Amino acid sequence: MEKIPIGKHVQGSRNSIVKKKTVVIQGLGFVGAAMALVVASNRDDLYDVIGVDLPSNAGVIDKLNAGEFPVRSSDPKVSECFKMARKRNNFRATSDQGAYALADVVVVDINLDVHKGVRDEHLDTSYSVPLDPFREAIRSIASVCKQDVLVLVESTVPPGTCKKLVQPVFEEEFQKRNLSPEFMIGHSYERVMPGPGYIDSIRNFYRVYSGIDEKSADAVESFLKTIISTEEYPLTRLGSTTASEMAKVLENSFRAMNISFIQEWTEFAEAADVNLFEVIDAIRMRPTHKNIMKPGLGVGGYCLTKDPLLASWSSQHFFGAKHLPQSERAVEINDQMPGHTLEHIFQHFREGIANKKILILGISYLPNVGDTRSTPVEPVFAALQDRKARLVLHDPFVPFWVEHQLETCSDKEALAGDYDAVILGTAHMTYFDDGLLHKILNANKPMALFDPHGAIPDTIRAEFPQHVFKITGRGDV
Ligand SMILES: NC(=O)c1ccc[n+]([C@@H]2O[C@H](COP(=O)([O-])OP(=O)(O)OC[C@H]3O[C@@H](n4cnc5c(N)ncnc54)[C@H](O)[C@@H]3O)[C@@H](O)[C@H]2O)c1
Repeated sequence: MEKIPIGKHVQGSRNSIVKKKTVVIQGLGFVGAAMALVVASNRDDLYDVIGVDLPSNAGVIDKLNAGEFPVRSSDPKVSECFKMARKRNNFRATSDQGAYALADVVVVDINLDVHKGVRDEHLDTSYSVPLDPFREAIRSIASVCKQDVLVLVESTVPPGTCKKLVQPVFEEEFQKRNLSPEFMIGHSYERVMPGPGYIDSIRNFYRVYSGIDEKSADAVESFLKTIISTEEYPLTRLGSTTASEMAKVLENSFRAMNISFIQEWTEFAEAADVNLFEVIDAIRMRPTHKNIMKPGLGVGGYCLTKDPLLASWSSQHFFGAKHLPQSERAVEINDQMPGHTLEHIFQHFREGIANKKILILGISYLPNVGDTRSTPVEPVFAALQDRKARLVLHDPFVPFWVEHQLETCSDKEALAGDYDAVILGTAHMTYFDDGLLHKILNANKPMALFDPHGAIPDTIRAEFPQHVFKITGRGDV
């Protein structure tokens, strides 16, 4: 087992010696690794932090213990927090579940996946939500933890999970251990954005929280106040854990539905020769309509692609109520969105795509970050690869595309070349700021440029009349 620091002491407010509390973070992925740093670098140096992940994720554990953050990030605060934690020597990562026995607080940041395309026999849905891995993860805490531990679930879960799964598992394990149930359970969801504001999206942002009872909610509040700037970003307490679990999936379902809604207007605008971006900018002048979405390639990432399904599944499985057809449909439409850009590509290359030299600029699902999970570039890449196109991939944030075990082209100079087409997979700022796009477009050979994000300005189009530009949502082009 990796060395775990415990039992260190800090000066209390009256110069008394106060034992530091131990916070264990379960799950060291995009959320948990950053949360661990935020907790370890808290203002008052209150905690020893232990991060626990699965033995199968030993690479991440080793990296963290060697002082290397496992997520590629453009946020300078990541290394600042890391330096602080190393100076304090208050953060270690391990795969030893025995660490939960040391915890005063356990923060649960593990994944709870939706399996799309795997039918749930009981509910007759085209997707399923296997709860067993999550249940066993909770059991691994409950079977060894302190009697009065605070468990704070931050994972996105089907509403009802804290009351209907986490609490019963704790009761069961405490009964087995002949302990009276003094545990506290709360829920507070993350709004982490792994871009340039990665750390601030945890430390300096609004939070919703709740507890299974008053005592638990109070304990969550006290804990969050020590790691989040709650004076500037006040906390919102909701009446039950189910309510805050619901807030998370509703928040993401709203966004997913907003995106899927615009997809049909994108197609309408293209048919009607209208510039939908201009239309949306005009609508956004209304304060009530500021966040209406714009056209795009599709929806990626771990959250919007599954959270509406977690909600619908919960409604049926936990509460015996109806499914949420609009939320489910939003995910379906968003999953199909890349097909629209593919249609543009196939329409352009009517004679076939085999052997066409195509450059894909950008792989990640968000501009300026390196997260490729469920990226909408994937189905475009797969369809073109199937049809034997000669593909060149570039992404400054993704030197290695893990899901495809592919190295991307990192040499900008080598990128200029005679392509048949360029697809702007992700609108990273660098493509526009450092002249790379210009260099590529300077080629003599006429090419087709597909921009599903409406990111290429009209000035660039005017500068390169030799090329064909197909911009999603721009019926006027
Ligand atoms: N990624 C985001 O931007 C984001 C934002 C808000 C909320 N969330 C939610 O936070 C949760 C975590 O998301 P993530 O993006 O960090 O996922 P992730 O897949 O990057 O990380 C999850 C980690 O948990 C580990 N894990 C799984 N089971 C474990 C166990 N039993 N014990 C210890 N470790 C275990 C996995 O190995 C993995 O490293 C999810 O519920 C997600 O929906 C994510």
